[in-house]
Amino acid sequence: MTETTASAPTTNAAAFEVRPNVNALSDDARAAALADLKFGTQFSDHMARAQWRQGEGWSDHRVEAYGPLQLDPAAAVLHYAQEIFEGLKAYRWADGSIQLFRPEANAERFNKSAHRLALPQIPVEDFIGSIEALVAVDRAWVPDVEESSLYLRPFMFASEAFLGVRPAHVIDYLLIASPVGAYFPGGIKPVSIWVAQGYHRAGPGGTGDAKCGGNYAASLLPQQQAYENGCQQVLFLDARESRYLEELGGMNLYVVRSDGTIETPRLTGTILEGITRYSVNQLLDDDGLKVIEKDITLDEVRDGIESGDIAEVFACGTAAVITPVGRLASPTFDVTVGDGEPGEVTMRIRKRLTDIQYGRAEDVHGWMRRIG
Ligand code: PLP
Ligand code: COI
Repeated sequence: MTETTASAPTTNAAAFEVRPNVNALSDDARAAALADLKFGTQFSDHMARAQWRQGEGWSDHRVEAYGPLQLDPAAAVLHYAQEIFEGLKAYRWADGSIQLFRPEANAERFNKSAHRLALPQIPVEDFIGSIEALVAVDRAWVPDVEESSLYLRPFMFASEAFLGVRPAHVIDYLLIASPVGAYFPGGIKPVSIWVAQGYHRAGPGGTGDAKCGGNYAASLLPQQQAYENGCQQVLFLDARESRYLEELGGMNLYVVRSDGTIETPRLTGTILEGITRYSVNQLLDDDGLKVIEKDITLDEVRDGIESGDIAEVFACGTAAVITPVGRLASPTFDVTVGDGEPGEVTMRIRKRLTDIQYGRAEDVHGWMRRIG
């Protein structure tokens, strides 16, 4: 992953022609929408889009009213799931400015996912330009209460109407925005995790390190089983041996040993290379704490939690930020991490990260990009 975002190029925001939403919410209605923030249920007044055609490239860059899409029932995405997405956030700082966290990294991962799904590359200037153009129009949708942000969801899919199985020749790129509070309702409470039984999210050579909708479709049945077992998230093990920790349905995972050692599953090609994960590793390194990226077995984690050798477990991702894990369960065991309360290392790294994202601490790595 590219290390710093400090010398980011200028973007193509101006290419996105703005067609204002004549039915945009009134100030009062928007204030009401922003008053009780959940995750991903409200959307801003506009969306950005562009289209790619084979032989022609990208065109029709615009910002228009948020609303339903017109899609041919034969659109390839509806049949063969040729689709990718990203997730990043716009933060409102106390000085009123609007800031993104490492958007070039999301652009880079988007294009990596695009390559794996045989989708076209989008210029980084267009990817970040679409965000700048949309946030400029929907600036009032960036909330200002603590722990809130405007979640940005860029995505790209095969819109060509064609039932043959081949990479589509017409592709739509869209960006929507959703004002959000915490991903898990109830504040920073430790979550419970269910170990997926008999199902895997990804296998060698598959699409595990791409951010494509299909990976999430594969995670939904085990996720449902997690809910049925009183857990909020599902943990996937490796597909070869069902022995090693990979990641959660939508987050990367860390364990903190009682001697202070911090470990996270190494990147194997089946795990999403989380931007939060890279950032957490860097911040821990800045603090003189080395993260060991290695194969971690479920057995050692269960035993470590039981014996107290593992003092903390936490998950991380854009949506979830840093979320403490309080419990790990499967049909054969059910263990509570420490005293079930958020751990000290977890909360410290959470503060380190969010202080940078919200402009409360110096951005020594040049991760933030002001867009308004
Ligand atoms: N793993 C999965 C499967 C995810 O969906 C996410 C969320 O984007 C992550 C990890 C964390 O990635 P990031 O930190 O880039 O949001
Ligand atoms: C994110 O953290 O941005 C994600 O994409 C995770 C989840 C909402 C799918």
